[in-house]
Amino acid sequence: MIPQQTIDRILDAALIEEVVGEFVQLKRSGSSFKGLSPFSNEKTPSFYVSPAKGIFKDFSSGKGGNVISFLMEHERMTYPEALRFLADKYSIEIEEQQPSEEAVAERSERENLSVVMSYAQKFFTDELWNSDEGKAVGLSYFQQRGFRDDIINKFQLGYHPEGWENFTKKALADGYQKDYLISAGLTKQKDDRLYDFFRGRVIFPIRNIAGKVIAFGGRTLKSDKKIAKYFNSPEHALYNKSKVLYGIYFAKNVMVKQDQCYLVEGYTDVIALHQAGVENVVSSSGTSLTEGQIKLIKRYTNNITMLYDGDAAGIKASFRGIDLILAQGLNVKVVLFPDGEDPDSFSRKVSSTELQDYIAKASKDFLTFKTDILLEDAQGDPIKRAQLIRQVVESISRIPDGIQRSVYVQACSSQLNVSEQVLNSELNKILRSGVQKQHRESSSMPPPPLPLPPMEYGEEQKPKGGYQTEPQERDLIRLLMHYGNFPVQVEVESQEEGQNQVIKLEISVAEYLCSELQADQFNLKNPVYGGIVSLYESYLKKEEFPDSKVFTLNSDQKLSSTAAEILAEEYELSANWETKHQIYPETEDMKLNKAVRDCVNRLKLSNVMIMIHEVQEEIKTVNEDDLLICLDRKRKLDKVKQELSKYFGSSVL
Ligand code: CTP
Ligand code: MN
Repeated sequence: MIPQQTIDRILDAALIEEVVGEFVQLKRSGSSFKGLSPFSNEKTPSFYVSPAKGIFKDFSSGKGGNVISFLMEHERMTYPEALRFLADKYSIEIEEQQPSEEAVAERSERENLSVVMSYAQKFFTDELWNSDEGKAVGLSYFQQRGFRDDIINKFQLGYHPEGWENFTKKALADGYQKDYLISAGLTKQKDDRLYDFFRGRVIFPIRNIAGKVIAFGGRTLKSDKKIAKYFNSPEHALYNKSKVLYGIYFAKNVMVKQDQCYLVEGYTDVIALHQAGVENVVSSSGTSLTEGQIKLIKRYTNNITMLYDGDAAGIKASFRGIDLILAQGLNVKVVLFPDGEDPDSFSRKVSSTELQDYIAKASKDFLTFKTDILLEDAQGDPIKRAQLIRQVVESISRIPDGIQRSVYVQACSSQLNVSEQVLNSELNKILRSGVQKQHRESSSMPPPPLPLPPMEYGEEQKPKGGYQTEPQERDLIRLLMHYGNFPVQVEVESQEEGQNQVIKLEISVAEYLCSELQADQFNLKNPVYGGIVSLYESYLKKEEFPDSKVFTLNSDQKLSSTAAEILAEEYELSANWETKHQIYPETEDMKLNKAVRDCVNRLKLSNVMIMIHEVQEEIKTVNEDDLLICLDRKRKLDKVKQELSKYFGSSVL
């Protein structure tokens, strides 16, 4: 039992934005924070944290509550686990007795495992620094590898003594239960005999995002090829290999700041890069890269650079990694180290500036990387060349976003000197076969339930300072529902060989509208419209356009009636807002192009006006420190407003 006073102290100390921020990438938005819902797979942020109220609210799943309920919901902690987690984070001591056998047994499995893991880590670290064997074998090994003491400490490296039961015996004597030592993978049992798993290995503790040790990697110091170089903890209630990244605890904040994540292959690579001053680095350690690990990175940044060994195995692993990363909608670059070198060995040969220079210079976007390697292999062989093109297009086909795909098709076309048409037809083939495969897989199963849009948004959103977004939002939904699958022409900037180029593309109205909403990160204020957009997006993701029945027969009453209303309205494209240039579109095509742009810009403008109003209100009350931030925000908003006004001609303002 934790005394009530202690509970109060914990709740007093805990800052909800800080705690939630460990698990969700949050951006400040007015007086609250905003991010992508950790409970659903949304693309447009609808997850809010209000520090003032001490609550979070997730509009996409409807979940909400305080800092404790967040940990219980998101991390599946029990109430006492959540309290202990916070106590630990904010260094508040919970007075507890030595773990008696009964007390230990009462705790949940996860708690027990966590206690065992933390005990073991301290044991191994203590062995490394303080025992004769640990110093002579383990510590000197790390030091010979060139790891500095502060880095050895930071990563809590350790040493597991030789002998069969040094660790197990001590742990049992200290009151830890056999069963948990076994499920934690620290102790093995054969018949009636217990023995240590990591005997005679140096230890790399693996920590979760909150910094808790949840597993270990143990490296042998023997060069016998028959012995596995690494032993890793088995999976257990706290440790799911495919969702854990080595180094994430130290990397996450730097990853956000630099908007970049370096991905390496091994424990030692992470450590060596840290020592060289590169801290936004993680490793998939012990597994080949998984989707879950990429999703974890995605909480912090959209940019991954893989730093791999340039040998055949490294290249193969990087190809696989590229496709997985692209499929999650992230940007991927690759740096190969000279054959036989990994980031760790390389970093020892050069200074840290040289290392960072190398990374910057050798980094190639995935397309260049893949074509370069494959081209070398094809060497003028036409059959191999055809295969190469298919392989590259295959990678492009993984990218979920249509606009981005087109940009890469253009780049690929110039790099490989193949016409875009050919590439596009190849791409469409792959995409279609992907869609067909999905259909085949799903035909034997009942169709998945339609995703339900958010129902209640709590407080109703009132027009602020006389500005409202309702008509603009409705207009957007109207265009989406009436013209979603019509083509529009857009211009995108693309970086090619360091040069900015403007590329003209044709995409669907729906893709255009949805990507504009995402790019500007504002939510539709009307939750029903928001629901319609996310439902529509879920079809776009599958490369399909939804039938209007998806909306009108939706099980959500509000959504279906709104959709029905909008579809029932006659909708005529007309150029009812004049642009500065006074050009009246003539063809339907031109009208549509203009209508979608007008619509998006009008919505942006009203959102900007509201935000300007909000910041002006804030400026009236804010303290001196925050005033500068507010003024800066206002300046930026004013600039956007100016640009938008230019688009419309000043008359609308
Ligand atoms: N690995 C593993 N089991 C093995 C070999 C490797 O789990 N038998 C994992 C480890 O996480 C290791 C990573 O794969 O860190 C990369 O392997 P490798 O490059 O062989 O190891 P390094 O980390 O480079 O170790 P060292 O430099 O000490 O050889
Ligand atoms: Mn290595």
